[in-house]
Amino acid sequence: MIIYNTDEVDPAELSTYAALSDPKWKDRICFRTSTSAYTQGFVASIIAGEGPQAAAKVVEDWMANEPQILANDVEVVRTVAAGGCDVGITNHYYVLRELAQDPELPLGIVFPNQGTTGTHVNISGAGVTRSADDVAAATRFVEWLATDGQSLFVDGNFEYPVNRSVEPVPVLRELGEFRRDDLNVGELGPNNAAAVQLLTEAGYR
Ligand SMILES: [Fe+2]
Repeated sequence: MIIYNTDEVDPAELSTYAALSDPKWKDRICFRTSTSAYTQGFVASIIAGEGPQAAAKVVEDWMANEPQILANDVEVVRTVAAGGCDVGITNHYYVLRELAQDPELPLGIVFPNQGTTGTHVNISGAGVTRSADDVAAATRFVEWLATDGQSLFVDGNFEYPVNRSVEPVPVLRELGEFRRDDLNVGELGPNNAAAVQLLTEAGYR
């Protein structure tokens, strides 16, 4: 998601991830570090969707706006809330967690790329390895996470339930429907190394 400081930004100014390269955002952006799996997966998704050259151009154009690169999503959210940046990219639930603590914080969320590829989506995944000591128990645990255990992610952390029979918490329903990038998550892994290299070459540390 693109997040913004509601005192400084009209959400109508925000549209796509790539549009954060507009010079109007110079010195106003906070990103998470390139070592974050979220950053790498996000850039890998741009490579998979639009090709390596287009992805490199997006990242290079962002860097021309001299973003602050922070340690993690929490830092980005808190810096935007404090006015240290006007816009940033984070997962949505980090914003909702801060707002749950303090509803007065000037934080807003925009679903980017609604007219193009859709908003980038992360998943929380689980699997059972071949070397597991107790495959049956581990399988039951993973099945629990996908069913009754969904509330761990949904209620406690404001994540969207992947299981359609589980109700999202009210605060998620209030965010409304949005178009999500339907890129197969299996395309991210093979593009991860290229994403890291691209980020390094663009000076995104
Ligand atoms: Fe997270």
